[in-house]
Amino acid sequence: MIDIHTHILFSVDDGSKDLAMSLDMINLELENKVSSIILTPHFSYEGTFEKREKLIKDHFLILKNKIEELNIPISLTLGAEIMYTDSLYQRMKEGKEIISLPNSHLLVEFPLFHYHQRVIDKIYPLTLFNYKIILAHPERYEYLTIEDLKEIKSFGVKFQINSTSLNKSFSKSIYQRAKTLLKEGLVDFIASDCHENKIKKPNLLEVSKYLKKYKITNNLSDE
Ligand SMILES: [Fe+2]
Repeated sequence: MIDIHTHILFSVDDGSKDLAMSLDMINLELENKVSSIILTPHFSYEGTFEKREKLIKDHFLILKNKIEELNIPISLTLGAEIMYTDSLYQRMKEGKEIISLPNSHLLVEFPLFHYHQRVIDKIYPLTLFNYKIILAHPERYEYLTIEDLKEIKSFGVKFQINSTSLNKSFSKSIYQRAKTLLKEGLVDFIASDCHENKIKKPNLLEVSKYLKKYKITNNLSDE
């Protein structure tokens, strides 16, 4: 199994605090039958992003070397969860490099509050380039109706919901939105979006029944 959205890379965002926590989270992924992890730290192309980009790449090498040294059987790939800003669109237009997931997938998030309809207007232009856009946790943008999400889906955007959203105790309304998206056949990926090793931890095994029922493979395929 593959987990395409994780904050396992240490000391680069609000996810893993240090190398030890990252290793702990990787062990939890293995217990959840995950053999391939995409590391997706929060990132934005606003301001002086180059320093953060270097830090992310440096920490990735440290973690990857440690995994090899310890012979841990897991595949790690560096990606990013990119917060939408107009500079992302500008960068795409200029053909500049963007941190992406395998096969030119871009994991894009929007602010969770006070953004309204703008997501529909902002996400469409991103689909006009050679990237496959994945909207991170669409169920969590409660300012978007299911109809809005269907419109976004019609642009060719792929949807990734969080495994925690399928846990009723997290939020009943988000759980219902996630279930609706599944039933409507709109979900392409379920990922953990794990941030640490206790509560928002790797837990994909808990949602394996949904993966099976809705035939979701989580594969970042080429199509
Ligand atoms: Fe995330």
